[in-house]
Amino acid sequence: MERKKITIPDLLNFKKQNRKITMLTAYDFPMSVALEKAAIDIILVGDSLGNVILGYESTVPVTMDEMLHHTKAVSRGRKKSLLVADMPFMSFNVTSRKTIINAGKFIKEAGADAVKLEGANPDIVSIIKSVVSSGIPVMGHLGLTPQTATALGGYKVQGKDEESAEIIMRQALALEKAGCFSIVFECIPETLASDITIKLKIPTIGIGAGKGCDGQVLVTHDLLGLGVGFTPKFVKKYTDLSSQIDSAIENFREEVIMEKFPAPEHCFKIK
Ligand code: KIV
Repeated sequence: MERKKITIPDLLNFKKQNRKITMLTAYDFPMSVALEKAAIDIILVGDSLGNVILGYESTVPVTMDEMLHHTKAVSRGRKKSLLVADMPFMSFNVTSRKTIINAGKFIKEAGADAVKLEGANPDIVSIIKSVVSSGIPVMGHLGLTPQTATALGGYKVQGKDEESAEIIMRQALALEKAGCFSIVFECIPETLASDITIKLKIPTIGIGAGKGCDGQVLVTHDLLGLGVGFTPKFVKKYTDLSSQIDSAIENFREEVIMEKFPAPEHCFKIK
């Protein structure tokens, strides 16, 4: 049976039916095609683009132009998955007007279905309200928010004590009230994520937030063993592509030097 296009009401129904939601990142056309083929529900063009693809040390330098360029490529590969694009640092934290214009570019120019925004201070909640009322669906992101990791004391688990757990709970309720259709919880204790998930009507998607969320997300390069640098505890490597790439490239180098490649079957002949 052909898969039908995933919509936002579908995600709300999945939560009601206790059917877990799958979300993975893509930054280019071939990965988008692979995720589509695997029937992943949501493809996220994360601003992890900065660390994973562009070689930045954090997500902070990622620009609107970079995000739009990669979202367009992913959009060309997806068919039925819901496409969510991350709004990069300072593309949404200034004014509602600027945020709506930038969010609109992801939808109109790049082919995304929705945008994701990090944080939930009162200014951001009010900005989210205006984006939602302009007709653009918004996914929230709480807990460890990498764009403001410095202010959070680094890449650390959030909500570990009663006071900070209470703040995340209140932020989640505020995001639901502001009109978010879903919230990502990054690096928060499993019991906190479960408690909030039960309280919310909208689905929660966890990364380092345990089994109790309505869905799970990972950076695809991490699960493929393609990440460079530190691998967080919450990542499960389903394969180790990095070592396969290393050995394929080493083989090529040796075969060229030993004159084993190209072999006759790789060459063209005159009739
Ligand atoms: O940028 C990203 O890839 C993300 C996921 C980790 C949720 O925000």
